[in-house]
Amino acid sequence: MAEHDENVVWHAHPVTVEQREKLHQHRGAVLWFTGLSGSGKSTIAGALEEALHKLGVSTYLLDGDNVRHGLCSDLGFSDADRKENIRRVGEVARLMADAGLVVLTAFISPHRAERQMVRELVGEGRFIEVFVDTPLSICEARDPKGLYKKARAGELRNFTGIDSVYEAPENPEIHLGGEQLVTNLIAQLLDLLRRDVIIKT
Ligand code: ADX
Repeated sequence: MAEHDENVVWHAHPVTVEQREKLHQHRGAVLWFTGLSGSGKSTIAGALEEALHKLGVSTYLLDGDNVRHGLCSDLGFSDADRKENIRRVGEVARLMADAGLVVLTAFISPHRAERQMVRELVGEGRFIEVFVDTPLSICEARDPKGLYKKARAGELRNFTGIDSVYEAPENPEIHLGGEQLVTNLIAQLLDLLRRDVIIKT
């Protein structure tokens, strides 16, 4: 990856993030959902976005399966490609949080190092790691896209949890475990956002 040119200089613009946040009446933040394929990241993030939207919060949901159709359509599932996927999405999420949005991301993001990189990029206090801790056996039983079946049959290589690593978060801001109802999970997440003074409503 090329470093930026020394002749490219950062320009500070007159409207600040604080002014944008004041306009939105809430802070900008990134809720980073991580977990295995089929763990429920997209479903929970989608339901939370809906709840936030109803509360008048400006949101945007970045989802792995969708982003890989556009921004990251050139990337596969090698470790290097996953790293680049998370780097790009991290940068986009940071820009959106800087715009004052509550950003929700749903990516497997299997490596601790990349999640840490995004945490540092976005900044403590704005980055909320949400571990969707659904055991592999349950994800595999759900298999909504039939991908676990293909991976077990050897038709799909580097599949997370089968022949590619998933490094569970050690200190996530929130750990969603057990088979809880989505409504309970949403209540927990809204509480956290209120406690961290991201939203007031
Ligand atoms: S990540 O590892 O780079 O964070 P991302 O969340 O963007 O992954 O994409 C994961 C989705 O891609 C899965 O939910 C699944 O639908 C699909 N997919 C296709 N091939 C693989 C694979 N080898 N490993 C994991 N997911 C895969």
